[in-house]
Amino acid sequence: MPTSDPPPPPSAPLAPLDSEGAGTSRRTLTLAVVVGSCAIAAAAALPAAAFVAAPIGSKGAAGRWVRTLRLDQLTEGEPKRVAIVDDRRDAWTIERGVELGSVWLVKHGDKVTAFSSVCPHLGCSVNVAPSARAGFACPCHTSAFDPEGKRKSGPSPRDLDALATRIEEGFVAVDFRRFRIGIADKVEA
Ligand code: FES
Repeated sequence: MPTSDPPPPPSAPLAPLDSEGAGTSRRTLTLAVVVGSCAIAAAAALPAAAFVAAPIGSKGAAGRWVRTLRLDQLTEGEPKRVAIVDDRRDAWTIERGVELGSVWLVKHGDKVTAFSSVCPHLGCSVNVAPSARAGFACPCHTSAFDPEGKRKSGPSPRDLDALATRIEEGFVAVDFRRFRIGIADKVEA
């Protein structure tokens, strides 16, 4: 009688996941998915939130370089009034191509002097003086300024406010700013 080896003992059956173990795994997986989703959503939302929260005008609000006319459109020593046209920004909006004010430009060779047209007394608009090359005059309370913008007479508490200029590709650019009126010091508004 041939002998045969006894059959191997049945391998131990895989232990079925009990309901508690399966629940724990599902909760762990769900938690991982939720955390991952939140991280991705936060990463995507941060730049948008920063854009919405940052006022449009918050960058470089103090001054702005604005191109005006070409240098060759100015006559040596003869003041010319030019409009300052640029975008107007407030906290949340931009208006394109708005006239923000005006300045007087005076050419001296390849350099240009610029003065704010706002009278430092109470803010009226300054004109050139009636007599040729006599400087500037304010019609409101008769303040007068020489061609270099120095106060000559009248109630203005300071000289005309000079603004920086530079030539950009043949155009005169002005660093347009506003200043407080009615005070002796030139202080940005
Ligand atoms: S506003 Fe110019 S002199 Fe008064």
